[in-house]
Amino acid sequence: MIKTTFLWRILLAGFALVGYVGCSSGTKEAGGEACVDPKVVADYVHAIIEADRTLYASLVVERMKYHGKDLVSEDWAQKDKLPLPAQMLQFAGLEVERKGTGLKYRLASLWPVDKTNGPANDIERTGLQAVADDPKTVHTSTIKRPTGPHFKAIYADKAVSETCVTCHNKHSLSPRNNYKLNDVMGGIIIQFPLK
Ligand code: HEC
Repeated sequence: MIKTTFLWRILLAGFALVGYVGCSSGTKEAGGEACVDPKVVADYVHAIIEADRTLYASLVVERMKYHGKDLVSEDWAQKDKLPLPAQMLQFAGLEVERKGTGLKYRLASLWPVDKTNGPANDIERTGLQAVADDPKTVHTSTIKRPTGPHFKAIYADKAVSETCVTCHNKHSLSPRNNYKLNDVMGGIIIQFPLK
């Protein structure tokens, strides 16, 4: 028993050392070492995406609606209106991807209105299911890409207002029409290279 504990300690110390050595050298100001857990980086990115979406929904869409102006439409381009918050998020994700840093994000679901927003592979399917089962979960994985390892994190996307529920439940292309307030409707998938 004692031997096993000892072995575990050596193993853990080994992992810690690998983690330490694996960190890239940081700025002088940061004491020479800079190493941020990829999950923390994903949390930062997620916070920005969430803030942008919430503010667009409250400061633009809902505020204008309150003043009697229903300015948003799914067919915003044809109808000369503004895009939905979900569409703005997807457009911003594409714009970020075009910057070429390797960072990507998108809104996805196991029950997508737009089929291209479904899971792209088994990892995404498992992750979207995990966040649907428990919205507090952040499903993380490291995946191999031709350019090197990438970190993927999936966060729950919940029906925070009745408008989410109503629009998706009555949408002709929605494969699910029994959403309730606070249900998980999908997830935000964030991915970036680890080096
Ligand atoms: C007025 C209708 C409408 C409202 C309100 C709305 N959505 Fe959507 N939502 C859509 C449409 C349309 C899409 C597909 C957009 C696209 O083409 O990518 C979508 C996409 C999504 C997706 C990606 C998967 C899919 O279904 O294609 C998620 C997740 C989602 N919405 C969650 C929400 C949440 C959460 C809210 C409330 C905060 C919300 N939606 C409010 C219409 C709406």
